[in-house]
This record gives sequence, structure tokens and C-alpha cells, in this order.
Amino acid sequence: MNVWSNSAPRRSTASLAVATALLCAAGPAGATGNAARGQTLSKGCADCHSINENGVGPMHKGVVGRKAGSVAGYDYSPDLKNSGIVWTEENLDKWLTGPQAMVPETKMFFDVPDAQDRADIIAYLKEKAK
Ligand code: HEC
Repeated sequence: MNVWSNSAPRRSTASLAVATALLCAAGPAGATGNAARGQTLSKGCADCHSINENGVGPMHKGVVGRKAGSVAGYDYSPDLKNSGIVWTEENLDKWLTGPQAMVPETKMFFDVPDAQDRADIIAYLKEKAK
């Protein structure tokens, strides 16, 4: 499942304009991901994740560099909890490409098929979810 193929009106004009403005203000985009664009895209994650609180999914605070399955008080699938994964940017990219390919019994059913979208979301998490 991915929200980008579901065509709920994306409030696109407004948010893209904002993203573009931020993009220009920030100067040359990073080699890999653009956090401003990632922020817009990460609204797809927000159905299940927030930065500071556990919800359907674990909170995103500190996720880049965090050990998988390590947020206190969140009820992880045993497979993810015992995976030994550390959320490096590379592993996050793999995860968002297809969580089940990485951790077959995970309970996150969501993927981000576009590589640039993934890079932007990861850049956003790195900056805003420290
Ligand atoms: C439909 C709900 C849903 C959506 C949408 C979703 N996730 Fe998740 N996510 C989950 C669940 C549930 C888990 C816990 C998986 C488990 O325990 O196996 C999870 C786990 C994760 C983890 C592992 C965290 C940890 O502490 O080990 C990361 C990273 C993650 N999600 C990132 C994202 C990002 C980034 C997005 C948006 C691109 C996203 N997720 C969208 C439900 C979702």
C-alpha cells in the first residue's frame, strides 16, 4: 500500500509552492535528499507515526541512528524487535522500499516506491526527528 498512488486531493498547489519556496531559500539541495520536500512527503507517514509519541507505529524521534525495535512502550512485532537492524540512512532506504523484504513478519504495511521520495523523507527525518 502506498498513499502516493491513492489520489486523495493532495493539497498540492499550496504545499508544493511552500516546498519550492523553502527549497530555494535553502540554497543548493543536498546531494541525496531534500528535507523540505521530505516534510511534505512525510505526511504519508503521519497516519501512523508522529515525531514525539507512539501511535499505530513507534515515534520517529531519533530514528536515524536508532536501533530497530528500541522505543520504550511501543509494542513491536517480534521480528523487528529481534532484527538487530540499526536505522542508518541506507537501511531506512531499504526499509521504505519494502518493509516485508527486510523483515518478513513486520507489521508496517507501507512503502515508498520512488527513490528520490525516500531520500527526501530520510533527509527530513534526519533534520527534524533528531
Ligand atoms: C499504515 C501505518 C504506517 C505508515 C503509513 C507508516 N508506518 Fe512506519 N511503522 C508502522 C508500524 C506498525 C511499525 C512497527 C513495525 C513492527 O513492529 O514490525 C512501523 C515501524 C517503522 C520504523 C521502525 C522504527 C523502529 O523503532 O524500529 C520506521 C523507521 C518507520 N516505520 C518509518 C516510516 C516512515 C518514514 C513512513 C512514511 C514514509 C512510515 N513508516 C509509514 C506503521 C506505518
